[in-house]
Amino acid sequence: MSSKATVFQQHARGIAGVRPAGEAALCRRCAEDPFVLSLVPENPSWDVPHRLLASVQFLILGGEAADYRAEPDPWSAFLDILHAHADRVVDFVHRGPIQTNEVQRCFALLPLFLTVARTTGRPLDLLELGASGGLNLFWDRYRYRYREGTWGDHDAGLALTGEEAAPVPGALLTDEIRVVRRRGIDLEPVDAATDAGFRLLASFFGADARRVDRLTRAVSAMGDERPELLRGDYLDLLPGLLADRSGASIVVLFQTISTVYTPLERRLELRAIVDAAGGEGPLAWISTPTVDEHGQRRGDYPVELAIWPPGERRIVARMNNRGDRLQWGP
Ligand SMILES: C[S@@+](CC[C@H](N)C(=O)[O-])C[C@H]1O[C@@H](n2cnc3c(N)ncnc32)[C@H](O)[C@@H]1O
Repeated sequence: MSSKATVFQQHARGIAGVRPAGEAALCRRCAEDPFVLSLVPENPSWDVPHRLLASVQFLILGGEAADYRAEPDPWSAFLDILHAHADRVVDFVHRGPIQTNEVQRCFALLPLFLTVARTTGRPLDLLELGASGGLNLFWDRYRYRYREGTWGDHDAGLALTGEEAAPVPGALLTDEIRVVRRRGIDLEPVDAATDAGFRLLASFFGADARRVDRLTRAVSAMGDERPELLRGDYLDLLPGLLADRSGASIVVLFQTISTVYTPLERRLELRAIVDAAGGEGPLAWISTPTVDEHGQRRGDYPVELAIWPPGERRIVARMNNRGDRLQWGP
């Protein structure tokens, strides 16, 4: 089997039972279709099937193609879209990062932000790596329900909850937090409040109406405020940004499901940059490292926390890719 076919087969296995029914079957058929395979690069990375499906959804959301799922023969309708828009699909698949800005991940992140605030006693200066539309920089505007308590404004338009394999301690959920700044870095930042930006972000959610609904509510929670999104590679921008830290607040550097898209040597470089900055002054780090950084089992992501001083990196939780399953504790 070609490596092109293999990535579609692997994607089909990875999304079975997670993405809406039919998507895994579609990927299996893609793996066997010469035309579909002609649209993707040689030696494709693991995320190429996700990009291809998002490219079709992007056309559907813009009214440029009809929803193939509603057609009597969805597979033929899907292929028709690819034939009619082959150039656009190729461009989408070859260029541009995966832009899955998943606010549900804040369900897993909140207890870590609370831990940083409690440990340091300082207001939080947020700096997200791979922020996409920056929606996770507004996590304090959402309401959360855990097994042992709730957190956030009762009237928040976006309420997040999930499964807890080991519960978040209720005592952690009693603190209020002050966020003084919301900055993010991304190779291609998205303005989620524009029609074009929203369409791009929604295209990565396919036909999952719940995820699109969360996206809508998260955009609304920003109100008139916008995150400060910087365009660039965080490895290039980070040293300069970390050199400029005020004493009153704590810079909370965080990333979810972003470093997985960079080569291992760049990930290790990032760790070295963060460690060096931590050695120079107070800093907090929250991250979903990849398995090769930690030798952890595949599947769920470990969630790592470090607070300088002293800056010991610890795995304090595990979360799934979506952020709707959390295990608090190492
Ligand atoms: C899958 S999205 C995750 C977005 C967000 N962190 C979340 O969890 O919802 C990954 C993001 O990381 C960004 N990204 C990947 N490598 C990057 C790099 N080296 N520098 C800046 N952004 C990067 C991509 O552009 C993309 O927006």
